[in-house]
Amino acid sequence: MLLQNKNAVIYGAGGAIGSAVARAFAREGAKVFLTGRHRAPVEVVAKEIVSAGGSAEAAEVDALDEQAIDKHLESVIGKAGRVDISFNAVGIPGTNILGVPLVELDVAQFSLPITTYATSYFLIARAAARRMAANKSGVIMTATTQHSRMGLPLSGGYGPAMAAEEALTRVLSVELAPQGIRVVGLRPQAIPETDTLKEAFEARAKVSGLTWEQFQEFLASKTHTRRLMTLAEMANMAVFMASDKASGMTGTTVNLTMGSLDD
Ligand SMILES: NC(=O)c1ccc[n+]([C@@H]2O[C@H](COP(=O)([O-])OP(=O)(O)OC[C@H]3O[C@@H](n4cnc5c(N)ncnc54)[C@H](OP(=O)(O)O)[C@@H]3O)[C@@H](O)[C@H]2O)c1
Repeated sequence: MLLQNKNAVIYGAGGAIGSAVARAFAREGAKVFLTGRHRAPVEVVAKEIVSAGGSAEAAEVDALDEQAIDKHLESVIGKAGRVDISFNAVGIPGTNILGVPLVELDVAQFSLPITTYATSYFLIARAAARRMAANKSGVIMTATTQHSRMGLPLSGGYGPAMAAEEALTRVLSVELAPQGIRVVGLRPQAIPETDTLKEAFEARAKVSGLTWEQFQEFLASKTHTRRLMTLAEMANMAVFMASDKASGMTGTTVNLTMGSLDD
């Protein structure tokens, strides 16, 4: 098992990506500490993992609340001794931020994704790094999308938010790698199993005139594989990148866009 004896903290663990990563980490032997803004969805995932024979605990932690993040990490260290992996899977509903042309977008709506995504990632990463530095090892991870590098219409501040996260991954890495801490992002292709993609479709449906099926076909047509990504594919890569097998990877975002975005 690739993550045997590792302790992983996952933020936004009740969501699609967070829960898939949590299950995959636990299957590979990690003890997972699941957190989310609301406890109930995180509790469901933790129970599933425990029923399948894994080790998981759930907690309510707002990833924009510095003190709540610190308090929770202290409790993890109290129970498990150390934190090896920190995974940021926080996401906000696309319905609040997508579908409006930039010239009609108000500043609050533009800023919301930028401040939410960049600030939560910063707070999570900083708290983890402070603890990981003591052990001279650890991996800090986040998830972004191809909006970070492509001009996609009706995305408001979402693209700038994704670009900010990828920039932060590089800056965190250059400061933390000398202390034994790797920082890596994952940039998955759209995942049709998730509500996030459905919201992205719905926000643009009126303007695009596409059906849900046509929207997926359109996105898939931009990939080399002519299909979109599965949660399992994304989670498998998360496991590998979190593991010691990826010890040579830091300061970068793994391009999982299946060919839509050239390197
Ligand atoms: N789904 C895709 O196709 C896809 C593809 C590529 C990249 N991504 C990226 O991956 C990330 C996660 O996406 P997802 O599809 O898993 O989204 P999701 O299903 O909406 O999950 C996001 C989770 O974040 C939680 N959250 C929101 N604000 C929080 C806060 N302040 N503190 C703690 N938790 C908070 C949400 O909890 P509540 O519901 O309780 O608010 C939710 O459980 C996003 O950055 C997204 O852009 C997604």
